[in-house]
Amino acid sequence: MEVSHIPAGYKPRARLLSGKTILVTGAGDGIGRTAALNYAHYGASVLLLGRTGSKLEAVYDEIENAGGPKPGIVEMDLSIATEDICSSLAANLGEEFSCLDGILHNAALLGDRRPIESAGYTSWQDVMQVNVNAQFLLTQHFLPLLQQAPTASIIFTSSSVGRIGKAYWGAYAVSKFATEGFMQVLASELKNTSKVRVNSLNPRATNTGMRRAAFPGENPTANPTPQDIMSAYLFLMGDDSAGITGRAFNAR
Ligand SMILES: NC(=O)c1ccc[n+]([C@@H]2O[C@H](COP(=O)([O-])OP(=O)(O)OC[C@H]3O[C@@H](n4cnc5c(N)ncnc54)[C@H](OP(=O)(O)O)[C@@H]3O)[C@@H](O)[C@H]2O)c1
Repeated sequence: MEVSHIPAGYKPRARLLSGKTILVTGAGDGIGRTAALNYAHYGASVLLLGRTGSKLEAVYDEIENAGGPKPGIVEMDLSIATEDICSSLAANLGEEFSCLDGILHNAALLGDRRPIESAGYTSWQDVMQVNVNAQFLLTQHFLPLLQQAPTASIIFTSSSVGRIGKAYWGAYAVSKFATEGFMQVLASELKNTSKVRVNSLNPRATNTGMRRAAFPGENPTANPTPQDIMSAYLFLMGDDSAGITGRAFNAR
């Protein structure tokens, strides 16, 4: 797979996302939390989707205290997302917003990391539900609202183990390969008929709860913070990436 990088030295302009409405999944913690705060800082109204209300409220307060556009909270556990839930969510948001300018699909489960031979089916299904099926449901039901925007961006979050398979990364790695496949299929479908662009982004090793859980023996501060990789999240979400679609990016 050919991997793309954002332009060297990219600096987003101050109001890059002004007037845009952007949905971020997994917005309560880690990279999603930082992306939500950055998108608001650059002018977007951010819809904060996650499963832990108290974390989303903390992000909401931080955006409000910084004087950002009023965010929204969507408390939702993607492990139980259904067609009905996603369709009513899209209908409700469609009543409030004329369009959606972007989705950052960021929420994910790490799941069990063990050999395929002994992988548990329940854990496998949980990871596939959150990392793949819920992304499909949200994307499908929000596509009409994205199509209403002058230009829109969908960012799927990938991983190094979703580009080259690695022993013991089980369902997580397979779910990220599926995410790359989903990105390519959707980008190809929309390429000539839509102003919605679709790309994947691999943050690479970043100091978050997920990374610390996956590598408990590692010095966490040796890895970049979520804030260190935000240029890529801003470039792909803002209009500076207009016309770029179907590509697999690394955040650094
Ligand atoms: N950090 C890395 O080194 C790294 C490397 C490669 C790829 N990635 C990818 O980057 C993305 C963000 O990872 P991260 O490191 O920031 O992970 P994180 O710190 O574990 O944060 C994940 C976020 O997703 C939310 N989430 C998990 N399950 C959910 C569910 N069922 N419903 C709704 N929200 C749910 C979590 O909510 P709670 O806070 O409520 O649990 C949390 O806010 C993921 O897609 C991950 O695979 C990360």
